[in-house]
This record gives sequence, structure tokens and C-alpha cells, in this order.
Amino acid sequence: MISDILNLVKKHEIWRERECINLISSENVMSNQVRSLLSSKLAQRYTAPDHFYMGTRFIDEIEEYGEKIAKRLFQAKIADLRPLSGHIADLIFLASFAKKGDTLMCVSADDGGYPGIWKKGLPKLLGIKIEAFPFSKDKMNIQLEAATEIIEQLRPNIIILGASLFLFPHPVQKITKAARAIGAHLGYDGSHVMGLIAGGQFQSPLREGAPALFGSTHKSFFGPQGGIMLADKDYGTVMKEKIHPSIVDNAHWNRIASLTLALAEMRKFGETYAKQVIRNAYALARALSDHKLPVVGSTLGFTKSHQILMDFGGYKQGRKIAELLERGNIIVDCGIRLGTSEITRLGMKENEMEQIAELLKQIVIDKKGPDQVRLDTKKLAEEFQDPEYCFSL
Ligand SMILES: Cc1ncc(COP(=O)(O)O)c(C=O)c1O
Repeated sequence: MISDILNLVKKHEIWRERECINLISSENVMSNQVRSLLSSKLAQRYTAPDHFYMGTRFIDEIEEYGEKIAKRLFQAKIADLRPLSGHIADLIFLASFAKKGDTLMCVSADDGGYPGIWKKGLPKLLGIKIEAFPFSKDKMNIQLEAATEIIEQLRPNIIILGASLFLFPHPVQKITKAARAIGAHLGYDGSHVMGLIAGGQFQSPLREGAPALFGSTHKSFFGPQGGIMLADKDYGTVMKEKIHPSIVDNAHWNRIASLTLALAEMRKFGETYAKQVIRNAYALARALSDHKLPVVGSTLGFTKSHQILMDFGGYKQGRKIAELLERGNIIVDCGIRLGTSEITRLGMKENEMEQIAELLKQIVIDKKGPDQVRLDTKKLAEEFQDPEYCFSL
């Protein structure tokens, strides 16, 4: 029945979008204008790079305009907005530069690397071997010296920096140098930190020497769900060739128009937004830690990104806590990673981070019934409904 699907969407929107505090670090909210472009009639049109389909004159302009803003924002020579997601952006990079039997070095999924480029993910699909960066749990980062030695010894063909658990910037400059010395191709998967990079507040992989930066457009970057590729001339040219017709045939122009507007928002508001995201992450981590919640990295200053890690001793324990929190309308993953992108976009600041920490404490430490806490969560969430850091049209 038609009413079934409409009802389910409505129920979701009331619960998750109105009454919950959403702390999933892969998520964000779009401005109303960016979201409304997703339902534009561009969604029903076809294009092809050789202009096989006619009637695309305005779509062609959208593509050119979007790429122009992306290149300026990230200081890239080449940009492409067609990748359908961060995962597909990874595929585009790997398919462009790795061949069967090659070795990929990246952060292991056990250390917070992206599972999609680990054992069961794209390397398996493409017949690529994997090697993990040596990783320091104390520093929550790649061990630079050991990594450069291993790169020299093992001579991987392809190296990807970036991760899913990403608290501190990676040593891009030095790893890039080591990669170049052995002729390995290097890329930076910025899926999680793309909004912080755009706002100039995390690191600038391209300026630090990485020839390619790619990833999602909807985690710390507040665009529609999708992917982006940014690169120097050589890498960008190869990757553009690979995108069509191997990996993306018809591009999704409603999403690309929507992403273009989000890129424009980022150019104008990205710096203030990204600064506040990181300030909020620190404030939330500090407050949680003061409440004796097990926040990782106190000696490191907890985080320099949108993420916070709480270690309850593994996935099973994490899941139990995450389920309790969900009953209190606080939405997290089972990691437990917390993210501050969405709540920042909705206008929350340090003061609200203390309130959120208090809600978590009541559920996890004080063992107050989540059903009791839910009303307070709802009240706080309802005060912050409208995205900020966007144009008032
Ligand atoms: C580092 C990293 N790369 C890629 C992806 C995949 O992104 P998407 O969900 O846009 O496909 C993720 C997903 O969380 C990720 O953490």
C-alpha cells in the first residue's frame, strides 16, 4: 500500500530527524536547499561524455560549474563529482592504478582502517594483496618510521592513507615521499574528514603532496550522499578515464547539482563550520572523560577531527551500550565512535556538548533508565532543527 511506505518515512523523520541526538560520525545533515535539489527533475535525465544523448546543455553547465568550485575549494587541478559514493571513489582509484596481484598498503580495519579496502572488500574483488601500516594505538596514528621502512622493504604498488576511525592527521608528506621513492601510487581516502579538509582545519592532503584525494561527500562534508575525486593533472586524467564507462555510466545529476550547492556552502561557511566541529568534538570528549566514560586518547588531547572514540572493551560491549543509548534517543555506532558534524551543523556549541555528555553519563554511568532520559534528549534535539552554515535564500 502506498500509505505504508509514506508512513514509514514519516515515522523515521519524526524519530531520527526530530527527536534524536545523532552522533554517527559518518552522517550529517544537508541544508534545505541542498536537500531539495535531490528531488529536482535532473534525477530523470541521461547524459554521456560524448554527448550521445541530446538536451543536456544546462546539465553540462552544472558539471562544469561544480567541478570549478570543487577545484577551487580543494586546490585541485582536476575534480570529478560523478563517483556515486566514497566506496566507489576508492574503487575508481584502485582500478586506475592497481592490477591483479599488486599489493595495497593501508590502515588495517583492526586499527580503524576502512573495511571496504581491507580483506573482504575491494582488494578481494580486484585480486589485490593487502599489507597493513604499522599502527600505534598509543598515538592513534600510523607509526611513521616503521611505515617508511616497511614501504622500502615490501615495495607495495599502491598506498592509501585515510581511515574510518580518524582522530589525528596522517603523515602525508613523509609517506608520499617514501611512496614516490619506490614508484608506488598514493591516494588519500578523505571520506570521513572531507568537510574538515574543505574548511582548512584537518590537513590538506593535496598540498602536502598526495596526488589524489577522494571519498564521501556526506560525512564531515555536509553534501548529499555520494563521492568526489580531486587530484593533480596526471592522476586526475587517469581517474577520469576510468570513471566512464568502467565504473559510472549515467551520472546522477540531481545529486551533482545538490553537491555543487553544498560545495558553494563549504566555500563560504566551511572554515567556521569545521572549526566548530573540532571544538565540539574536543568539548564532548573532555566532558565525557570528566564523567569517567572511557574516552580514548586523553594524553593526546582526544581528537583533532569530528570523531571521538570510547572503548568499552570490544564490539559486544559497545553494542550493548549503543542499544541502551538508542533507547535514550542518542544514536551512535557500536564502535563506539561519536561524531560531532551533524550536531554542529544544527547549531550546537560547547554548552550543548556538556548537556549531551550529561545525558550519556546518566544512561551509562548512573544507570538511569534510558526511557527516563529520552524526554530530555528529545527536548534538546527539538531545539536544534535547522541547519546553519548555509545561505539564506
Ligand atoms: C574511510 C572510508 N572510506 C570509504 C567509505 C565508504 O563511503 P560511502 O559510504 O560513501 O560509500 C567509508 C565509509 O564509512 C569510510 O569510512
